[in-house]
Amino acid sequence: MGLYPYADRFPIVRSFPEHGRPRAEILAEIEAMSEVEDSPYHEGKISGSIYSGDDAHYAFLNEVFGHYSHANVLQRDMYPSATRFEGEIIAMTLDMMHGDAIPGGTGCGVLTSGGTESLMNPLLVYREWGRERGITNPNLVMPVTAHPGLLKGAHYFGIEVRLAEVTDQFVADMDSVRSLVDENTVALAGSAGTYPHGLIDPIDQLSDLALERGINLHVDGCLGGFILAWGQDLGYPVPTFDFRLPGVTSISADTHKYGFGLKGSSVLLYRTPELRRLQYFIVPDWPGGLYTSPGMSGSRSGGIIASAWASMVSLGREGYLAIAADIFRTAAELREVVASFPELRVMGDPYFNVAFTTTEESGLDIFLVNDFLGTRRWRLNGVQKPNAVHFCITRPNTQPGVIEKFRVDLGEAIHHATAHRGTAARSGAFYAGGMTSGQIAAGMAGWLDATQALPPA
Ligand SMILES: Cc1ncc(COP(=O)(O)O)c(C=O)c1O
Repeated sequence: MGLYPYADRFPIVRSFPEHGRPRAEILAEIEAMSEVEDSPYHEGKISGSIYSGDDAHYAFLNEVFGHYSHANVLQRDMYPSATRFEGEIIAMTLDMMHGDAIPGGTGCGVLTSGGTESLMNPLLVYREWGRERGITNPNLVMPVTAHPGLLKGAHYFGIEVRLAEVTDQFVADMDSVRSLVDENTVALAGSAGTYPHGLIDPIDQLSDLALERGINLHVDGCLGGFILAWGQDLGYPVPTFDFRLPGVTSISADTHKYGFGLKGSSVLLYRTPELRRLQYFIVPDWPGGLYTSPGMSGSRSGGIIASAWASMVSLGREGYLAIAADIFRTAAELREVVASFPELRVMGDPYFNVAFTTTEESGLDIFLVNDFLGTRRWRLNGVQKPNAVHFCITRPNTQPGVIEKFRVDLGEAIHHATAHRGTAARSGAFYAGGMTSGQIAAGMAGWLDATQALPPA
C-alpha cells in the first residue's frame, strides 16, 4: 500500500499549502476515501476493529462529539459537563464490573485515551505501590498472551516482566505463574479476554494468588470487558473476572471497543482511591501555576468523553444486552462452522473472539487458508505461537447470512490450502500497529526514516 495510498486519485501535499482549499472540495475527498475504506465492514467481513458498525449510532455520536470537539477537558471551570460525563461513565462501568462487591464501596476510576493507556497507568501505580514498600526492583508476572501494552508500560516504567506459560487451553498456567512470583513481584496481570484467542485467564486463581502474596492484580478487559460482562446475564457460563473476586485491584475496559464509543476512550477502574492516587501527577510550584493531572495526557477533547457517555446512556443495559446476545450467538455459530471441518480446530473455549488453527493431521498451513479468505474480502487476524487466525465477532458480523457465507468460503479456503500445500503463504501473524509499512521497515532495519522515503515529485 505504501506511504501514498491515494497518489493516483488526489494530489500529494508535500509542503505547507500557500492557500486554503474550499471546504466542499475537502469534504468530497474525505467522503470518497472513507466510503471505500468502510465498505468491507458493512459487509460484516471484518474481525474486530469496528465494534458497533451501526451508522445511525455513529451519526448520533458524531453529533454529540461536535458539541465538544473543541473543548479541553483540562479546563473544568469552562466545561463542568466533562466532570459529569467522566463521573457517570466511571459509575456505569463500575456497576457493570460489580464494584458493589467492593467492601466500603471504594471502587473508583479514571478515563484514558485507550486500552494501551489503561494498561500502562496501573503499572506506574503498582511500581509506586512497590516503592512505598521498599521494592526497588519491581516485577510483573503475566501470561505470554497478555497484551503488549503491558510490556510497553513495563518498558517505560522500568518494571521487569516475567512471562508465564499458557496451558493447552491457551490460558495462564497457574503453576508457571506461581513459579515466577517472588518478593519483588508488585502485580499479576490476566486478561478477560485475551487478544490472540479471546479467552479468559483463570482470574479467580490469579485473585487467590494475589491475596495470598499481598500483591495487586490487573484484569485486562480492554477488549472483552464490555462484552463478556453481559455473558452471565445472558445465561452463558462465563467465569467471573471482575471486582467480585477480592484479589482484583484494577480492571481496564475500553469504551471505544465493545462500549461502542468513538475511538480514543477507555475506562480504568481501581479497587481503592489510594491506588488511583498513585497515578496522579502534581507540580505545585511550577511558574505556570499549580499543575495537576490524573494520567498521561495533557489536553483532551471533551467530544470523546461526551460521545462515550452518550453511547452508554443511549443504549443502556438493555441495548448492550441485545447486541451482546447477537454477538454471543454468532460466535457460537462460528465455532460450530469451524468445528465442522476436520482440518480445523477451535482454540480453547471462546465466547466472542474465536481463534482456530489447522489440525496436525491435516498438515495444512492456516495462513494459506487465510490467504484465500482474504481474496473473498474476509479480514481475519493472524496470530502466532502457534500459527492461527482469529475472528473477533462484532455487531456487523451478526447480520443474517454472514456466517453462512463464511462457511462456504472457509470450505473453499481449505481446498485452496490443500491444493497449494508447501507453497509460501502471503499472510502471516501481524497485529495492526498503526505504522506504515515504511515505518515498520525503518523500525526493523533501523536505518530508513519514513520521511526519507518520499518519492520524487
Ligand atoms: C486484550 C487487549 N488489551 C489491550 C488492547 C489495547 O487497546 P488499544 O488498542 O485501545 O490501545 C487490546 C487491543 O486490541 C486488546 O485486545
